[in-house]
Amino acid sequence: MKFEGNASLLQQKMAASSAGVSRRLAVMRALNLNVDDAILDVGCGAGHLLEDIALAVGTNGNVVGLDPSETQLVAARQRCEPLNNVQFLCSMADKINLPDASCDGIASIQTLDYIEDVGATLAEVGRLLKPRSSFVNVSVLWDHFKFHGADEALNNLIHEAFKAHCYHQMLPLELSGQLSKQGFGNIRTESLAFVITQRHENSPAAYAELVLANFALGQGVEEDKVRAWQSQLAQAESEGRFGFTSFPVLTVGTKL
Ligand SMILES: C[S@@+](CC[C@H](N)C(=O)[O-])C[C@H]1O[C@@H](n2cnc3c(N)ncnc32)[C@H](O)[C@@H]1O
Repeated sequence: MKFEGNASLLQQKMAASSAGVSRRLAVMRALNLNVDDAILDVGCGAGHLLEDIALAVGTNGNVVGLDPSETQLVAARQRCEPLNNVQFLCSMADKINLPDASCDGIASIQTLDYIEDVGATLAEVGRLLKPRSSFVNVSVLWDHFKFHGADEALNNLIHEAFKAHCYHQMLPLELSGQLSKQGFGNIRTESLAFVITQRHENSPAAYAELVLANFALGQGVEEDKVRAWQSQLAQAESEGRFGFTSFPVLTVGTKL
């Protein structure tokens, strides 16, 4: 999935929603920042986490936001414009133009899911971290990213089409092993799962529905089926039998 155009805008709305806020709170807790820290955000998107970290590490600290999407970086630069301790790298995560052992912490939210060779990225993360500093990652168990309430066959069709949107459906289940292979220890995981049964303005379920609908159309699912799925979800919601579940997982590892 490319985070350009409409997909980038929807991703930014998702980041601003309660789903984005709760992930950032969990990441900030796990980073355990000190003033003066140098922190990298891999796949910074529109810069919501960069802003939080930059404020926490103060003007003697610094934050680097890395993302290969110029559209996402335009939004991130705009968000962080008032801050003087944020830099940007337009780059992929497997070859990062920063010196060895230059980071006091590295964070990444819902980005490794979209990177085919996770091992190469973790090797790069290991190279950049100072000893005893942490990598904090949030990735999603996509098999549990599910709408409930529409006709089962139609619902399965839309979810099946969505599987192609990223490389890794269940990355959090493999990440601990991959981190140990790259020399990380003290690895722990934490569930950030949530359920939504009623939508409201700025609801992650509303944005997720649009993401799935647009993606299914792009995968060749007929428009009448996609629209029927959306109206069945709306109907289910009005009858009090709608649900949207998502299961992000926080993983933390320390560079030994
Ligand atoms: C779902 S968005 C998450 C953005 C941000 N972390 C957030 O939580 O709002 C995924 C981000 O990963 C970026 N991305 C995709 N492939 C990447 C790669 N190979 N290396 C680094 N970032 C990548 C995308 O451009 C996009 O901004």
